[in-house]
Amino acid sequence: MSQLVNESARIVSNEPEGPRLHVMVLESPLIASKILPGQFVHMKLPEFESHILRRPFSVYARNADAGTLEILYQEVGTVTRLMPALQGSVVEMIGPIGNTWATDCSHALLVGGGVGAAPLFMLAETLKAAAIPFDVVLGAQTKSALVARERYADLLGCEPCCATDDGSYGRAGFCTSLVEERLAEGCLADNEPYDFLAVCGPEPLMKIVANMGAQAKVRTQVSMEKRMACGVGACLSCVVDTVNGKRRSCVDGPIFEAEEVVW
Ligand SMILES: Cc1cc2nc3c(=O)[nH]c(=O)nc-3n(C[C@H](O)[C@H](O)[C@H](O)COP(=O)(O)OP(=O)(O)OC[C@H]3O[C@@H](n4cnc5c(N)ncnc54)[C@H](O)[C@@H]3O)c2cc1C
Ligand code: FES
Repeated sequence: MSQLVNESARIVSNEPEGPRLHVMVLESPLIASKILPGQFVHMKLPEFESHILRRPFSVYARNADAGTLEILYQEVGTVTRLMPALQGSVVEMIGPIGNTWATDCSHALLVGGGVGAAPLFMLAETLKAAAIPFDVVLGAQTKSALVARERYADLLGCEPCCATDDGSYGRAGFCTSLVEERLAEGCLADNEPYDFLAVCGPEPLMKIVANMGAQAKVRTQVSMEKRMACGVGACLSCVVDTVNGKRRSCVDGPIFEAEEVVW
């Protein structure tokens, strides 16, 4: 793990992005200069002192020059429902935590389900900078929940492959059919087979795509976003069952080889 920093970060902006979805931009020069694709920050909101546990969030994007990072978050419970009201506050963040996505590949397929599109965006930027061809499959319940779609489109220079449960954008139904299709046809740029699949989203989606990757004999990594307490490897609240025994999602992950995970 890279050296952890505890940084007080001012909220620069905090805007709605879709149904129960928001993007928070934070001034966090130390963590922004170090964070790598797949890593996360553990955040404490001083205005909510009664919620003593920090909350983990992947970093969606960062601007090392400006010293800012972005969190794309979904309102699901106590703290995330209070977060949209925050403007200009200072939050306490520990980071960067965890390991990183692999980048030693020649053709990659990135699969993001719902808010799981966020932790893959820095990986997409890294692959683009290294001139490694990659495609992106996004799935969400409805068009307005395909949160990072336009940003991925800007990076790719074309639309990502999208599926929505209600058919309001892209393929109607689950995005797994798009993954199946891409694996069969190969990379959109040159029809070469993929040698890397990176998946983030609900566990059932990751399990299905992990099976597809195994059948296609493509290295597959998943981001296991377990509930976390300490975030630094001490409390064992975030364990993942693997073929190598119990592993801590916070410090041994959050990225795991899919073939290692006991689903
Ligand atoms: C490594 C990591 C990266 C994450 N990145 C993001 C991100 O980029 N954007 C984002 O919106 N969320 C992300 N999460 C999930 C986020 O941490 C939780 O949604 C948040 O902690 C919930 O806090 P809360 O107080 O609102 O919910 P609580 O009131 O604590 O719980 C409300 C509901 O949310 C569920 N829940 C809580 N934590 C998790 C979790 N980790 N995974 C699944 N369900 C959970 C609970 O089971 C409960 O049903 C990430 C989690 C991890 C571990
Ligand atoms: S959250 Fe405490 S060990 Fe992972």
